Amino acid sequence: MMSNDHCVQPVTSTFSENNWNILANCWHPVALSSEVSEKPIAATLLDVPLIIYRTSGGITVAKRNCPHRGADLSQGWLKDDQLVCAYHGLHYDSSGQCTLVPAEGHDAKVSLKLRLSTFQAAERYGLIWACLGSEPRFSLPDWNPLESSEYQVIELSTEWRTSAARHTENFLDIAHAAWIHADTFAPRDYPEIGKFDVEQTAEGLYYEIKTMFLAANTFEYKGAVEECLSEYTLTMPYSICLKVTSSLGVEYIFDVATPVSADRIRIFMLKARNFDKDKPVSDWLHFQEVVNEEDRKIVENQYPAYLPLDLSQEFHIRADIISIAYRRKLSELGIQQEGGY
Ligand code: FES
Ligand SMILES: [Fe+2]
Repeated sequence: MMSNDHCVQPVTSTFSENNWNILANCWHPVALSSEVSEKPIAATLLDVPLIIYRTSGGITVAKRNCPHRGADLSQGWLKDDQLVCAYHGLHYDSSGQCTLVPAEGHDAKVSLKLRLSTFQAAERYGLIWACLGSEPRFSLPDWNPLESSEYQVIELSTEWRTSAARHTENFLDIAHAAWIHADTFAPRDYPEIGKFDVEQTAEGLYYEIKTMFLAANTFEYKGAVEECLSEYTLTMPYSICLKVTSSLGVEYIFDVATPVSADRIRIFMLKARNFDKDKPVSDWLHFQEVVNEEDRKIVENQYPAYLPLDLSQEFHIRADIISIAYRRKLSELGIQQEGGY
């Protein structure tokens, strides 16, 4: 049984101490499973540099710098099921324990104190999730369609210069669709958003809305404008399942923003569809990349980059009941407005 550490906030962290401590006790994805194979890879979560490696003992997520002289372990490699540091060749097993100090010879006893700081890790839905704290506040989201053979799945990942909360709010927001996505799926002729209710769930929020969208998820096979049903399920703090039902069938978009730092995120997106499974996924992937780029151009230029939790700081329109509910949810969690950058 691997014993995990919990992390302390780096002195150079871009988060307030309050927010860092709350977010450290949540699950966040740090890599696509497909990225972690025969090489150790680097990631950053909440300003903490991490190393991720895979052995027969499973996935290990640890602090990136070697406890010997601080070398970057992502410059190392895997050999005989151990992580080898590139600087003096210290070997680490799946629990992070050093097993060999080559300069002292194979027979030398290795101190039990010579080990990496490892964190709770889980592999689910094609993602590697990590929690830097001892007690994850929310469960991993329930994204079962990704594990059903009924659906075809693609994965995307991109980095944005904004906060995780600004991205999450944008993903939950429906009123922007006819404006920034007019060239992809939401015709400008249907900007009006009907009334909807937001439900509180055990782990976040839920709402559903019918809108006039193009029944399309590629540029190549565009359908007609029709009434589509969008169902949003938020798992706090930054994971969303969007289920879109149209005449084509059901398409899910699972989206999660990882707070790399207070104003930098890595977005992981998984899409699942139960139609057009014989068509090339490259068209489907390309369409989503264009949609994401439409969002990125707006969201990276919102000011401030943090999400104002003081509700008087921005003006709200009727469709913002979801954004207001999300901001309140962050406040209930104890998150305080980040400022000063
Ligand atoms: S710094 Fe890693 S082995 Fe010396
Ligand atoms: Fe959007």
